[in-house]
Amino acid sequence: MKLKEFQLDFEAMLSEAVYGHGFLHYGYWPGGRPETPSARALGEAQQAWFDRMRAEIPAGVETILDVGSGTGANALALTREGFRVECLSPSAQLNAMARAKLPESVPVHETGFETLDLPRRFDLCLFGESFHYIQQGPALDQIDRYATRAAIIFDYFRRRGEGAEGRRQTHAAFLAELEARPGWRLALDEDVTEAILPTFHVLDHIKNAHLAPFLKRFRTEFRRGRPVLSRIVETAIGRRLDKFQRPSAREETFGKTYEYRLIRLERVAP
Ligand SMILES: C[S@@+](CC[C@H](N)C(=O)[O-])C[C@H]1O[C@@H](n2cnc3c(N)ncnc32)[C@H](O)[C@@H]1O
Repeated sequence: MKLKEFQLDFEAMLSEAVYGHGFLHYGYWPGGRPETPSARALGEAQQAWFDRMRAEIPAGVETILDVGSGTGANALALTREGFRVECLSPSAQLNAMARAKLPESVPVHETGFETLDLPRRFDLCLFGESFHYIQQGPALDQIDRYATRAAIIFDYFRRRGEGAEGRRQTHAAFLAELEARPGWRLALDEDVTEAILPTFHVLDHIKNAHLAPFLKRFRTEFRRGRPVLSRIVETAIGRRLDKFQRPSAREETFGKTYEYRLIRLERVAP
C-alpha cells in the first residue's frame, strides 16, 4: 500500500471517529478563521464544504456518479435528499467504509475513474477533492462519456511553476484540455482558496499547540521510565518524531503551492 493511500485510510478512520460524518475533504470557511481552532470547528467547516457543493447541483438532476467517493459521506447525504447515487473509488478500505454506511441500493464500484466501464450514464459527475488524482485529459473524456448534463469539481490544482509542468495538473492546463472539448462549457469557476486555508490554520494549531508538546512530554517520560525500550523506539522512528514535532505552517505553504476551485461544467446542448 502506498503511503498516500494509508494516510487517506487513517484520515478516514479519524474523520468517522472524531466528527461522525466521515468527510475526507477540507473545510470551507467563507467567514475566515474560526474563533476557536478546534477539531469541532473543522468538522463543521467540512459540512459547510458539502453545503456549498450541494448548492451548485443544477435543478432537475436526479442521478449522480460520485467519483472518488471516500467513505461515502457525500453520497449518503445526497441519497438522503433523494438523489440516486453510484460511488466509485479504487480504495478497498474506503469502499468497505462506504458500503457499511450506505443503503444497499447504492452501488460502490472498486475502480479508478479512468477504467470505469458501465453501461449507463448519469445526470452529474461529482468530484469532491478527487479530480487531482486523475489525469485531466482522461478524466474529461470519461466525463463526456458518463455525464449527460454537468460535472462539479471541488478540488485543488497546482499553481503554475510549482513543480506541475511534468504532471500538467494546473488550472491553466485544465482550461486548455477543456477548450479542446467544445461539447462542454465552464458554467462556474471560482477561486475559493481563501475560504479553504483556515483548514490548515486549525490543523497547524492542533498539531503545534497540542499534539507536538504532548509527544515531547511523552518521549521524555518514556525515556525516564523505560530507557532501553525508549532507545530502540528512538533509533527506529526518532527522526520522524522529531520532524513531526517541528512547527508546521501549512496554511502558508498550501496557499503558495495550490489554488482551490469550485468548478461546474455544463454540457452544451447536443
Ligand atoms: C480526498 S478523498 C475525497 C473523498 C470524498 N469525495 C470526500 O469529499 O470526502 C479522494 C478520493 O478519491 C479516490 N481516488 C483516488 N484515485 C482515484 C481515481 N483514479 N479515480 C477515482 N477516484 C480516485 C480516493 O480513493 C478517495 O476516495
